[in-house]
Amino acid sequence: MSAPRASRAPLTVRQTTAATDYDFVLKFVEAARAARFEWAASWPSHAILSEIRASCLFVAHAHSIPVGFALVRPPGHAFEITLTAVSQSVRGRGVFSSLIAKVVEDCRTNAPHESLHLEVRADNRVAILAYEACGFKLVGHRKNYYSDRVDALLFRKDFETRVDLITGA
Ligand SMILES: CC(C)(COP(=O)(O)OP(=O)(O)OC[C@H]1O[C@@H](n2cnc3c(N)ncnc32)[C@H](O)[C@@H]1OP(=O)(O)O)[C@@H](O)C(=O)NCCC(=O)NCCS
Repeated sequence: MSAPRASRAPLTVRQTTAATDYDFVLKFVEAARAARFEWAASWPSHAILSEIRASCLFVAHAHSIPVGFALVRPPGHAFEITLTAVSQSVRGRGVFSSLIAKVVEDCRTNAPHESLHLEVRADNRVAILAYEACGFKLVGHRKNYYSDRVDALLFRKDFETRVDLITGA
């Protein structure tokens, strides 16, 4: 018999410039680096700080406690999620899906014809499953991209359904 599914947390997701939210992201990533999680390996504190300054920060709160975040670069050609993570204790409860829904809602309002991009280590199976579940499509592959020679996979989520003008598909 499969384990019962974890219950979904009551969540608020918002774009934020609050110092407490910046602090949450900084400490979260510092702790993940200290614990040697690969997804945090290339994010020393100075890089996180400058990424926060260059990005829009979205934070999910459960009962007013921050539990997940996404850093989103505003469009040059497209929006890009440069870093996202959810607190281990609430993973598998839809926090990431809620973050993505809010990011897409806000970005689409500003630029309906754009798309949302991200890059992920090819060995980050759970993140890849989460991206695919949230409607991201694999659009590229960079061989030996990371310093430990793991490939990078590139994903894109379009804000609008693209209709093929010739076939109508
Ligand atoms: C990847 C990550 C952000 C997902 O966050 P999450 O809040 O647990 O994801 P959700 O609960 O919203 O799940 C979304 C979908 O992902 C898939 N998924 C999530 N966790 C999964 C798991 N452990 N196994 C299989 N599929 C999983 C499911 O399809 C799920 O959809 P469903 O709930 O309808 O079944 C989280 O695992 C995390 O923080 N990982 C560490 C940081 C990281 O790797 N970041 C990405 C690189 S920057």
